[in-house]
Amino acid sequence: MARFSDLINRLKGGRGQQSSPEPSTPEQLAPELVRELESLEPGITAKLMTILGQGHGPTPVEERRYQLAEALTTAVYPKYKFCEFGRLFLEDEEFLAYYRKIMDPNNWHSLDRKYTLNQLLKLVLHLEGDLAECGVYKGASAQLMCRAAQPLGKTVHLFDSFQGLPAPEDADGSYWEQGRFVSTTEDVASTLEGLDNYRVYPGWIPERFHQVAGDNFCFVHVDVDLAQPTLDSIKFFYPRLSVGGVMLFDDHGFKSCPGARQVTEDLFAGKTEELILLSTGQAMVMKRCLDGKKKSPGIDGGKTGQTAGSKLL
Ligand SMILES: C[S@@+](CC[C@H](N)C(=O)[O-])C[C@H]1O[C@@H](n2cnc3c(N)ncnc32)[C@H](O)[C@@H]1O
Repeated sequence: MARFSDLINRLKGGRGQQSSPEPSTPEQLAPELVRELESLEPGITAKLMTILGQGHGPTPVEERRYQLAEALTTAVYPKYKFCEFGRLFLEDEEFLAYYRKIMDPNNWHSLDRKYTLNQLLKLVLHLEGDLAECGVYKGASAQLMCRAAQPLGKTVHLFDSFQGLPAPEDADGSYWEQGRFVSTTEDVASTLEGLDNYRVYPGWIPERFHQVAGDNFCFVHVDVDLAQPTLDSIKFFYPRLSVGGVMLFDDHGFKSCPGARQVTEDLFAGKTEELILLSTGQAMVMKRCLDGKKKSPGIDGGKTGQTAGSKLL
């Protein structure tokens, strides 16, 4: 087996291990990494050494770094699967600048979801109806929605408690705590500075929904993490979604949100619309355009008398 102390030295540009009083620098963490890696299969070790040994070979440096990251990640956390090298969205400077400005610059965890949301908006903006978001926090995703909607004269309706999450129920598991994601309407106003096509409805979902009961929507973003507000949001907005309109669920594919996932799956089970699971962890449904003859059971069990392919009747 290759010696990992060699590997780490090469990763550090040939410098030897140095002791430092700071406990959290990469150099300090290296011995721990060495111990972890030394216990791995020889195949992984060999792959790492091969990549490092390529030196000035034909593979571009950036790609070799990617391969190295893949090999190291596979060693440390094999469940994570690297996708193809060279995805261009990671070089979309305009989008990266938006994210850097709005989000915590040390946390890129929702970059792919924000990017997906922004792209999906293109599918629906030609449709009739406004946009809505359930779960706004400081307005990061709302900003994307407002920016896309403004040229079309559409309003974005924003619903949040501004007291953070309510107390999770048993179905929600143990990840979330009451009060997580507290923000203020001023936070939202600051994120949405320069935009005026939005309305904010502070309050517990679904208390303020009745204020938009007469409207219809082309896009609804549900990002509330917990079962009950997810249920309330779908039940209210799905019947009001235009045909071809999209409902996007931010939390669906995450272990941390079992309750939100369960209520969404239950509500769409057996309906004409398919729940589409995205590799980002999001899920979406698009309101089906049927021939108008086939009755949709409707998300509320048909109480609205809605016909599939029509707007809310
Ligand atoms: C993950 S954050 C939303 C993040 C936001 N979409 C973004 O892109 O930054 C979840 C939000 O849902 C709100 N929320 C959760 N349950 C709620 C409820 N029952 N009523 C109102 N707001 C709720 C929280 O206050 C919190 O701001």
